[in-house]
Amino acid sequence: MGAALFSMMFAGINAQSLKSPDGKFEMNFQLKQGVPYYNLKYNGNIVVEDSKLGLRIFKDKAIKFASEIAKPEDAKFDLNSGFTKIAEKRDAKNETWQPVLGEKKNYINHYNELALTLNQASTERSIVVKFRLFNDGLGFRYEFPQQKNLNYFVIREEDSEIDLTSDMKAWWMVADYDSQEYKYQETKISEIPSKWVGAADANASQTLIKNAVQSPLMLKKEGKEPLYINIAEAAVLDYPASHLEVDAQNYKFKTHLTADRQGAKGYIQTPMVTPWRTIIVSPKAEEVMASKMLFNLNESTKYTDTSYIHPTKYMGVWWEMIIGKSQWAYGQPESNVRIGETDFAKLTPNGKHAANNTKVKEYIDFAAENGFDGLLIEGWNIGWEDWFGNSKEFVFDFITPYPDFDIKMLNDYAHSKGIKLIMHHETSGSATNYERWADKAFQLMNKYGYDAVKTGYVGDIIPRGEHHYSQWTINHFYRIAEKANEYKIMINSHESVRPTGESRTYPNYISAEAARGTEYEAFGGNNPDHQTILPFTRWMGGSMDYTPGIFQTKLDYYFPGDTRFVKTTLAKQLALYVTMYMPLQMAADLPENYKKHMDAFQFIKDVAADWDDTKILSAEPGDYIVTARKAKGTENWFVGGITDENKRDYTVDFSFLNKGQKYEATIYEDGKNADYIDNPQSYNIYKKEITSKSKINFKMVRSGGFAISIKPVK
Ligand code: NOJ
Ligand code: CA
Repeated sequence: MGAALFSMMFAGINAQSLKSPDGKFEMNFQLKQGVPYYNLKYNGNIVVEDSKLGLRIFKDKAIKFASEIAKPEDAKFDLNSGFTKIAEKRDAKNETWQPVLGEKKNYINHYNELALTLNQASTERSIVVKFRLFNDGLGFRYEFPQQKNLNYFVIREEDSEIDLTSDMKAWWMVADYDSQEYKYQETKISEIPSKWVGAADANASQTLIKNAVQSPLMLKKEGKEPLYINIAEAAVLDYPASHLEVDAQNYKFKTHLTADRQGAKGYIQTPMVTPWRTIIVSPKAEEVMASKMLFNLNESTKYTDTSYIHPTKYMGVWWEMIIGKSQWAYGQPESNVRIGETDFAKLTPNGKHAANNTKVKEYIDFAAENGFDGLLIEGWNIGWEDWFGNSKEFVFDFITPYPDFDIKMLNDYAHSKGIKLIMHHETSGSATNYERWADKAFQLMNKYGYDAVKTGYVGDIIPRGEHHYSQWTINHFYRIAEKANEYKIMINSHESVRPTGESRTYPNYISAEAARGTEYEAFGGNNPDHQTILPFTRWMGGSMDYTPGIFQTKLDYYFPGDTRFVKTTLAKQLALYVTMYMPLQMAADLPENYKKHMDAFQFIKDVAADWDDTKILSAEPGDYIVTARKAKGTENWFVGGITDENKRDYTVDFSFLNKGQKYEATIYEDGKNADYIDNPQSYNIYKKEITSKSKINFKMVRSGGFAISIKPVK
């Protein structure tokens, strides 16, 4: 049937439906008195009830402060009612694509698409609502074609609703325009408002959104037929990141966009498309975690050369500053310094500056001896004396080393041993200053042969009043990614917006932090179930720089009486290298601690960072994860298993291995009396010959785990 005939047949009928390629999902679209609604069925059952779509916009384009200019008559310009459907277009795709770095060699992008053109007669404007239905769920977005009455506009709010059918269990954290560094809560949807208060701890930059939660949000309908739902977004480009407002009585969520400094939520020039709203659904938690929908909803890359992008295993002159043993600054902390004026060589050294020639050489030696690719060095550049909390725009120049850091000598030394130094650009939130210096900073990296940079945005953003997740700042993050690509540089960005699949388009934007990483073990702690939730939430759209590998988990080792500790066993630290996908993979502890456990360190040395295949063997958010991955271009497999605060038995079934092939497995497990509080460093290591018929039982202790490295026997 021709498309034209198809559209004609349906013109006048008010409901359109779309099925997933496997037929399991059905999406229905409807205009009810001119208001757009959609719903979603899975296996014939409603999982998302009729939910409203639409946007509110400002009448005026020249905004001073949104609160001052919002007027009742703005409602006439909203794009949420008074619509008639004037066109309908269907499309479909089934493609296989290869991520530059990824969890699998091939990602499959298979969907059916329905695009509806809706006309608002009163304002003579049209928008398109586009739905893509995959075998793992739904994505939809708004598109604004260029037209006489829709060229430039400013968004007041996007009101995309997701109305669920029951009081599901939710793994959530408080929503914020500036931080995602919160602990997860596990409650019913109906309990979110009462538990919301008190669910946030302090952060260097913080703008909480009351009764809203972060995306991706993981949900579970419990009972005999469990169903898991993940709500997220994809391709958040030139648009603010969104949060989810909670309607706890109706189990309903609604988008809440990050406001900019004036309270506006996106400056649009048509033609333009919004990010995708995504709903992943499966009876199996493992399938939700394995979904690549967010990546599929991003455009393929336009980069012409991606050959410089490579998986990187690195160590860092880092953890010793995080725990307070060393300092980033060379001079006395909190002294008043000016870039370009202060003679840093004349400052009185604080005596704890870690990025010095002697120490860096020791780290280089250890990293080189153990086969690492890179070494991150923080605190190498001038400006750390007053970097934090002063809203100082010109806080760093990113090109001038401290007097005790010989950049040429250290890079030559590193290269002679096969190590590349990894650059650090902490911006202190001063994004304007970073844009001013980025070319010079990247030229310096090229000059000395650095090919990766860790950026950071601690504290409030400059331009002052902007937020970490507002449209301007998101554009900044990707401008920097594009500029880094010009210089063939890979990026790992901290305190930036959480990724939502953009690494497909910007493959040098390898990793980000954008959640509570290992560093929080030194700043107030992560819960033992934290790492069992992150892969269902933060990781859905891209990898995280979690920085695992802490062997000396108790900080009273450094500071007698210190009660801080990393809330896992040592074996669980090893398992994180498999359960968390990290192509830029850090071994975060100090060489002196690895030297005491070289047998366990062997796993970190062996484990891969880029993969041909991944199998989530078993997983339940908040409880446990067991993952197997096959290293890129080899027949070697790695398995990791972790548990929350409960001890747990798990039997690994090796049927994913090639039939008839013998393998040697090296097993790293919790010691019999291991315990994440009382005895974290107790572990066993043994070797065993296995085949695809083997099964091995593991006894994980509280917040424990196991790791296995598997090689074919020739
Ligand atoms: C916060 C980052 O997460 C951490 O890794 C870094 O060391 C500090 N900022 C200083 O830049
Ligand atoms: Ca649990």
